[in-house]
Amino acid sequence: MSTNLSIENLTVRYGGFTALGGVSLEVPAGSTLGLVGESGSGKSTLARTVAGLIVPDAGVLALGGQPLAARRTRAQRKQIQMVFQNPDASLNPRHSVRRILSEALRFHRVTTDRASTERRCRELLELVRLDGGALDRYPREFSGGQRQRIAIARALSVEPELLIADEPTSALDVSVQRSVLDLLGNIKAQLNLTVLFISHDLGVIHAVSDTVAVMRQGVLVETKPNGEFFAGPDTAYGRELLAAVPRMPAAAPN
Ligand SMILES: Nc1ncnc2c1ncn2[C@@H]1O[C@H](COP(=O)(O)OP(=O)(O)O)[C@@H](O)[C@H]1O
Ligand SMILES: [Mg+2]
Repeated sequence: MSTNLSIENLTVRYGGFTALGGVSLEVPAGSTLGLVGESGSGKSTLARTVAGLIVPDAGVLALGGQPLAARRTRAQRKQIQMVFQNPDASLNPRHSVRRILSEALRFHRVTTDRASTERRCRELLELVRLDGGALDRYPREFSGGQRQRIAIARALSVEPELLIADEPTSALDVSVQRSVLDLLGNIKAQLNLTVLFISHDLGVIHAVSDTVAVMRQGVLVETKPNGEFFAGPDTAYGRELLAAVPRMPAAAPN
């Protein structure tokens, strides 16, 4: 299931500092919006505000046309799930994978008895391509890439409509980044999810996005379909970002 995300004039201040200065964005159902921008431009603030972890100072958020108020209902918290940059910070090291996956299932009442919870846990591991034996193991027993797969499985466990991935591959070795990106791509197609994908890395954004949005100092400077953005950004800032990336198509020497 998927649904569209609508962001209108979203504003977040930290004390006197404006981290988001009126951001408006539409993410159509089943599509991936790639949000790119340098460190400190406000990407995580946007992600956390959409996820309900930060209360905005102004603006309107809606999922599937239903407004998302500052105080989210349990049903709304289920609809939007997030994957963070660092799986180590988001997985409790003292909990087995079974417990990590089943807590969300029980909290959101996706499964109600032990047998269906167990079945769902195994399905989730299959979805992220880990074997069933992983259920009895603990986060430290896995590699960084595998831990991120577990975090992805947990996010997907409750069948969200919107997945927010905030730099999900940035803490991983380059060699495993690709496999996690491929996994996210496959899952997105399989589950028809709407995705807000954040990265400072234009190569990653190029690989995953339907639409690219460029953020700078808390405002969006440019939003374009992936192919058009990489063929030639509209703004000087977009061109600057692209020119700074080695071996991107539009940055090739001419
Ligand atoms: N809790 C906070 N309190 C004060 N300033 C913050 C807080 N979180 C982020 N900031 C500031 O807001 C700006 C945007 O941060 P962030 O959204 O994390 O950017 P990004 O994810 O693009 O790196 C930065 O200048 C950062 O220092
Ligand atoms: Mg960030």
